[in-house]
Amino acid sequence: MPRFYPVKVKSIKKTTADCSLISLDISEAAAGDFRFRQGQHLTLKALIDGEEVRRSYSLCSSPLDNEWQVAVKKVEGGQFSTYANGRLKAGDTIEVMPPSGRFYVEVEPEKQKNYVAFAAGSGITPIISIIKTHLQLEPCSTFKLFYINQAVSTIILKEELEGLKNLFMDRMEIFHFLTREERSIPLFNGRLDKSKLDILFKTLIDPEAVDDYFICGPNLMIFLVRDYLLGLGPDPKHIHFELFNINGIPQNEKPKRRSVSDDTLRSDISIREGGKHFSFSMVSGSESILDAALKKNADLPFACKGGVCCTCRAKLLEGEVDVMVNYGLEQEEIDEGYILTCQAIPTSEKIVVDFDASISK
Ligand code: FES
Repeated sequence: MPRFYPVKVKSIKKTTADCSLISLDISEAAAGDFRFRQGQHLTLKALIDGEEVRRSYSLCSSPLDNEWQVAVKKVEGGQFSTYANGRLKAGDTIEVMPPSGRFYVEVEPEKQKNYVAFAAGSGITPIISIIKTHLQLEPCSTFKLFYINQAVSTIILKEELEGLKNLFMDRMEIFHFLTREERSIPLFNGRLDKSKLDILFKTLIDPEAVDDYFICGPNLMIFLVRDYLLGLGPDPKHIHFELFNINGIPQNEKPKRRSVSDDTLRSDISIREGGKHFSFSMVSGSESILDAALKKNADLPFACKGGVCCTCRAKLLEGEVDVMVNYGLEQEEIDEGYILTCQAIPTSEKIVVDFDASISK
């Protein structure tokens, strides 16, 4: 069951003017719970000006580094990112939930795999963890990274990327795209679009040779690349993407809210979490199980509330729900009855959910 741990900030280093690399001091006692896979994320929680703020950040370190590092880029109006880039300092304690997320594939040291990644801005954070891990543990695998930034000065993990390129000279290629600086080759100026992808797949990427694709960045870029790749026909299982939030998700991908036509229909909700039981009643179809439970002061795990991070995952043992969006659960989990409680709207009279249920695989 995911829980927050108090964790000391070991160090903070500026990687660009508005991005901080935060290293966390995970105690030996907690190290077991904080074991992670490349591409996973941490949820951080802090009390900022009296308000509890939770945000998920991808680990940019590799499990092989024995380090827990996140890079937090300051975003306009971003409460946590402004705090992390201004007030947070080494020695401070913040609350951290153990790693989670599915943005990875198994490491297969004996195989020769070809990976392609598309990243933009801070979307590089999980991808750099993935690159480091696979290239170190799979001696024959290759990685091509297509990375979009505004300018050279805003590339948040530039030195580390260059170090990786030098280390894996014959197995790693990086193609930088800049949106606010001119490069000599027109292809690498500006954002990705369909015509650029057409050129990339004619000249630099042989889709027949690619084993897995990874995409992370702004949502519009993710959906553009994902849809393009789907059009090329690979098994969708090999297209992996990581959303940080639901901002800018195309209209047809947005959550569909159910409209409540009859507020006399009620659902009795029974929740098991942390070995305890909690029950309450709510208007059917009115809001998510998580939102309704939090209003009743239940202490349940959540982070994004957008169907992205899976922190609120639970097993539906009884009853029926409408699910708005799911960007986190695998088909196997859905088949086993797991739901994202932040996206699950009760539609039956009785609902039983279990946050403690563990996945069978
Ligand atoms: S809280 Fe992130 S998916 Fe529900």
